[in-house]
Amino acid sequence: MYICLEGMDGSGKSTQITMLERWLREIGLQVFRVREPTGSEVGKLLRKMLKSPQATEENFQVTLALLFAADRMILMKDIGQAESAGKIVITDRCFYSSMVYQNDDDWISNINKHAKRPDITILLDLDTDTALKRCEGQDHFENQVFLGKIKEKYLKLAYNEGFYVINANNGVNKVHHDIKRILSPKFGICI
Ligand code: TYD
Repeated sequence: MYICLEGMDGSGKSTQITMLERWLREIGLQVFRVREPTGSEVGKLLRKMLKSPQATEENFQVTLALLFAADRMILMKDIGQAESAGKIVITDRCFYSSMVYQNDDDWISNINKHAKRPDITILLDLDTDTALKRCEGQDHFENQVFLGKIKEKYLKLAYNEGFYVINANNGVNKVHHDIKRILSPKFGICI
């Protein structure tokens, strides 16, 4: 099973994925955890590029999208092997982030056609002012107008693709509980 947490910068994905990993292990499952951008050389380059003022420019999105797709493909073999070994794969972001941030639905889908689609995607939906307060303002993707557009695009995608949506303005424990509530029936357990 391939589970993805999505959401704008500051939505708490990394905290929640750590809590999710711990819980899955507690209930006896084997877990393979990944994140995008990855730790590959392409992923490192991406993290550097995301700090540049160009990062939000329209015509730079093609370059970013191609690099994100390449970085993602490097992951696919490991994800396939983990799944074959019976592990639950959990990821902080997937190709849906490219659909939202790089913003060209058909082309993004095409260049990511070899990327595995998650079985379950959970969107951590957050108010933009809370997001801004939570993030440190280092990446250029972190400003109010931009985040507002990202939030809208996520909600539209969630509707079209059937994501679960959680209110991430709530406290960390409540959000974790909501995630467990969504996932526990998939593993046949009660919480
Ligand atoms: P993020 O999850 O915020 O990583 P970190 O917590 O280490 O900063 O992801 C970094 C940024 O990458 C984020 O602003 C969204 C962006 N991004 C895209 O624009 N497209 C993509 O396909 C992915 C995976 C991420």
